[in-house]
Amino acid sequence: MRAVSSTDYRVGIAGAGAMGQGIAQVGLMGGMTVVVQDAKAGAAAAAAEQVFARLDRLVEKQRLAAQDVAAMKDRLVAADAVAGFADCDTVIEAVFEDLEVKQTLFREIEAVVRPDCLIATNTSSLPIASIARVCEHKGRIAGMHFFNPVPLMQLVEIIKGPETEAPTVQALIELGKRMGRTPVEVKDSPGFLVNLAGRAFSTEGLRIQQEGAATPAQIDAVCRDCGGFRMGPFELMDLTGIDVNYPVSHIVFSEFQYDPRLKTTPHHKLLYEAGRFGRKTGVGHYRYDPAGAVEAPSPDHETDAAPAKGVLSIGESDPRLSDLLYEAGIEALSHDDGAAPLVAALLGEDCSSFVARSGADHRRLVGIDVTGDTSKRVTLMTAPGADPAARDAVAAAAVRSGRKVTAIKDSPGFIAQRIRAMIANLGCEIAQIGLATPEDIDLALKLGLNYPLGPLEIAEDLGLEETHGIMQRLQAITGDDRYRPSLWLRRRALLGLPIRTPD
Ligand SMILES: NC(=O)c1ccc[n+]([C@@H]2O[C@H](COP(=O)([O-])OP(=O)(O)OC[C@H]3O[C@@H](n4cnc5c(N)ncnc54)[C@H](O)[C@@H]3O)[C@@H](O)[C@H]2O)c1
Repeated sequence: MRAVSSTDYRVGIAGAGAMGQGIAQVGLMGGMTVVVQDAKAGAAAAAAEQVFARLDRLVEKQRLAAQDVAAMKDRLVAADAVAGFADCDTVIEAVFEDLEVKQTLFREIEAVVRPDCLIATNTSSLPIASIARVCEHKGRIAGMHFFNPVPLMQLVEIIKGPETEAPTVQALIELGKRMGRTPVEVKDSPGFLVNLAGRAFSTEGLRIQQEGAATPAQIDAVCRDCGGFRMGPFELMDLTGIDVNYPVSHIVFSEFQYDPRLKTTPHHKLLYEAGRFGRKTGVGHYRYDPAGAVEAPSPDHETDAAPAKGVLSIGESDPRLSDLLYEAGIEALSHDDGAAPLVAALLGEDCSSFVARSGADHRRLVGIDVTGDTSKRVTLMTAPGADPAARDAVAAAAVRSGRKVTAIKDSPGFIAQRIRAMIANLGCEIAQIGLATPEDIDLALKLGLNYPLGPLEIAEDLGLEETHGIMQRLQAITGDDRYRPSLWLRRRALLGLPIRTPD
């Protein structure tokens, strides 16, 4: 096998569609010779023109030098037949997502390339093992999963099938680096790393919506303002397309033997069946006007109530609650006057459960989420039968302090706690089953999905004990194993160990 650093390293790309073109571009930018092939006559040459146009734009933007791009253009070969891959050191397949098509093509590629040529697939959902099973030299077959658009997305997952040999993985890691990407090594598993770990964000948002605890607009606003996410789950689903994320959710759920942690909701399926795919169809979770602007109800709680002067803080004492009350100009009363709102910083618990164990007056109880960033927005929660006046008085004081308020119905773990703890828990489970290292799990989610923190970093940010406690209470209150804590999280929380402590 030739060193990936060889100046004349030759990469073949089968399939000159959106992904093939992006991979070709980063291959050229990495100084390699790139052979692009497509089954459709003329498609490879047309793709070369597209790649050239993109490189020219980078020259205009002064990101690349004109003479470098001229050299890159000389290193791109358009081929109409698989025979064009004969001298390649690695071939990356990026054709239609169809097992039979890929298996046939892999056999054709194996028939023309050298025995030491590596063959990688860019499949997003097919097991590497199922493609490799028809190949003669299974040790050189692996996954090389790029993200769209390739030149802008730094991450590439290098997927090791059951028979992939270590030197193959190592060479593909080096190839990914030479293409200017950041490779992470992942075991062959449904959804690989990013498409598996990313399920928690969307499906937990959907679950909160299904319970009727909050609207998509409220959930999205809390994820942005309190969780630090660039987009909330509903905005993200509408952007990527429900025609893409519903099938991925379903495949990952069924391939993981219907693990309830990965379950989505009937509403998600309904949108898919109805062809409400999001932005691309003008309607999904939200409606979009012809200019593409979102038509959504406000996530902000409006009230004309007078700000609360004093409240009684009940339940476990939490300095974050005292700070919030102070900043909102609310006096913390020392005893119950029978009329003031009762406030509690709940962790993984809903107001009803808290009332049941504490005997507090549910009509005056206002739950406040003190986790995450509460400087821009606070989430308030009340039990069924609560007096809206207590909530509105607390909300008015929060608004006076410059914060926005999201007022939701009873929900164990509010919005941000639930979604963040679910992301953390699934990331821990991925570490537990050894799909990737803890470091790569965090790196992949930050690069592949733009998360502000990786799943294990979220567990650290919430606190391991707190994350574990939120999951335990969610499981106990809902009776749903969806919320069972990962053993990785449980053990490290119980032992007081850092989250990255190896087994
Ligand atoms: N688009 C994405 O966001 C994305 C992200 C990651 C991975 N992927 C995966 O990458 C692969 C390609 O996706 P895409 O979006 O570029 O698809 P695409 O439809 O844009 O392009 C596929 C290309 O493959 C060609 N093709 C089909 N059969 C062929 C064959 N037997 N030999 C040679 N060429 C053939 C087609 O003519 C077409 O030009 C799929 O496996 C997909 O799952 C896609």
